[in-house]
Amino acid sequence: MAWFSLSPARRDLAGLVVLTVVVYLSASWFEASERLLILSRPFEFAQLDELPLTLLALSLGLVWFSWRRWQESRMELRARIAGERALAESREQLRLLTRQGVLQQEKERHELAQELHDELGQTLNAIKLDAVMIRNVNAESAASSRSRDAVYQAAQSVVTLTDHAYGAVRQIIGRLRPVALDELGLAVALEHLKHIWQRRLPALDIELDVELGERDIGEAMAMALYRIAQETLNNIVRHALAQRVRIRLEQVADGIALRIADDGCGFDSARRSGSGLGLLGMRERAEALGGCFLVHSAPGQGCEIEVFLPLAKGEKP
Ligand SMILES: Nc1ncnc2c1ncn2[C@@H]1O[C@H](COP(=O)(O)OP(=O)(O)OP(=O)(O)O)[C@@H](O)[C@H]1O
Ligand SMILES: [Mg+2]
Repeated sequence: MAWFSLSPARRDLAGLVVLTVVVYLSASWFEASERLLILSRPFEFAQLDELPLTLLALSLGLVWFSWRRWQESRMELRARIAGERALAESREQLRLLTRQGVLQQEKERHELAQELHDELGQTLNAIKLDAVMIRNVNAESAASSRSRDAVYQAAQSVVTLTDHAYGAVRQIIGRLRPVALDELGLAVALEHLKHIWQRRLPALDIELDVELGERDIGEAMAMALYRIAQETLNNIVRHALAQRVRIRLEQVADGIALRIADDGCGFDSARRSGSGLGLLGMRERAEALGGCFLVHSAPGQGCEIEVFLPLAKGEKP
């Protein structure tokens, strides 16, 4: 085995053995002990001839001392490895729990959206139909024109209000569960999201670029990416004062990457934000799927978020 390939501890030990042999051989060659004895005889009162035995005892003591420290450090190392393993396991458990939490949240939203749609949506529709009927029948009845007008106005108001309530319910349903995502996939859902913001803020230049191919990336991943894009756009509109937003979603070698950049006011991303939950939630969503989430921003420099989600083995190209 080459000298340099040895570990530092083994190299030191080998050096020590070589040095001992060299010292022994040179001492034997030069008769060092005899010469030392002759030299030290005039100082016999200092008992120098007892030194070799004392040094031997010291060496044995040092060997014992090193052995004990070596055992101690091995035990410490074992404890540290066990600690690290336990930490990794609990991190993994936390990741699974977070993932379950996110999936559960989506399931509940889905059910809530369904119920809102089936119960409230249909009830509102029924009220509206009744109100329309009252309005129309009343318009044709023989009652006095004043009372006819009053009933007509009231019925018209019910129609308007139910329209309004229905619109609000539809919006809530859309927020709870993006319909386009379920039915048409992530690319279309993002396009829809872009249009919603574009309609509200025509001056904001939003560019969306999707390169996913035909691959089905799975419901959990699609939902996570959609929610991250949704919250990022919310943040841009609320905090950034941006003029341009670039969204790029693409399939990379072993996963899906999403980047959203704006040219707004930016912020110090190295500092923990106050009470906001948006960035934290995005990170949790990405990490729950085994991915990562990065924010690059500085005051006056815009902001870019980067998400990478790995494709499960079966989903790889
Ligand atoms: N694109 C951005 N441009 C400028 N500042 C941003 C941007 N995104 C986030 N920030 C800053 O980071 C902070 C944290 O964002 P986060 O989404 O976590 O919370 P929030 O939007 O304040 O509240 P929440 O999302 O919980 O309603 C924001 O308050 C804002 O100061
Ligand atoms: Mg936010």
